[in-house]
Amino acid sequence: MTVTINILGLSGSLRQHSAHTAILNTVAERLSGQVRLTLHTLQNIPPYNEDDDGVHSPQAVSDLRAAVTAADGVLIGSPEYNHGMSGVLKNALDWLSRPHGKSVLTGRPVLGFTASPAFTGGVRAHQQLNETLWAVKAALVVYPQIVIGDVHSKIEHGRLADGAARTFLLDGVGALIEQINHATKEKSTGIDRGAE
Ligand SMILES: Cc1cc2nc3c(=O)[nH]c(=O)nc-3n(C[C@H](O)[C@H](O)[C@H](O)COP(=O)(O)O)c2cc1C
Repeated sequence: MTVTINILGLSGSLRQHSAHTAILNTVAERLSGQVRLTLHTLQNIPPYNEDDDGVHSPQAVSDLRAAVTAADGVLIGSPEYNHGMSGVLKNALDWLSRPHGKSVLTGRPVLGFTASPAFTGGVRAHQQLNETLWAVKAALVVYPQIVIGDVHSKIEHGRLADGAARTFLLDGVGALIEQINHATKEKSTGIDRGAE
């Protein structure tokens, strides 16, 4: 079956047994043949330095920007570290936010989620993630915040095993796909208001 929708998955955790990476892998497995989710690691993204940005950006940054450009939408999972999103993710989003006014995230459908062993599920990091995505004018998917509390009891064999959390998350991914389809339709009918 031809893949018609490509979603890029970004995990804000570099940990080998990361719950966020496990959740992204769970989504990837649950998508139909026409929709594919591909994970892109943030492992090699250097700390943001404006002196290194521009035409000669680091290769890992160019690769990440190209991966976002090639994607129809992005699914981002962030741990909550000290009540904020992970530094790894914020750093990557800072690279992706440039060039100013020409971010590859601008206008691109994006869905975020957080998970945590705490009952709060990383909700503070989620809010911060939204703030940054608003700053770059990403097309944030309208959906209740996906926060998964007590996550360590919900991951089994590297997959999100909790049915309720999985359904809530997958319904959110469904909303992401709907938004991608809507954006594609707008473009094909010539009413892409971004071009005005
Ligand atoms: C430096 C650090 C700070 C943390 N701060 C918080 C926090 O503020 N709130 C929270 O819910 N969990 C916090 N945690 C726990 C993380 O939510 C937990 O390690 C989570 O599993 C990380 O995501 P991962 O499994 O994808 O790596 C913290 C963990 C670390 C290592």
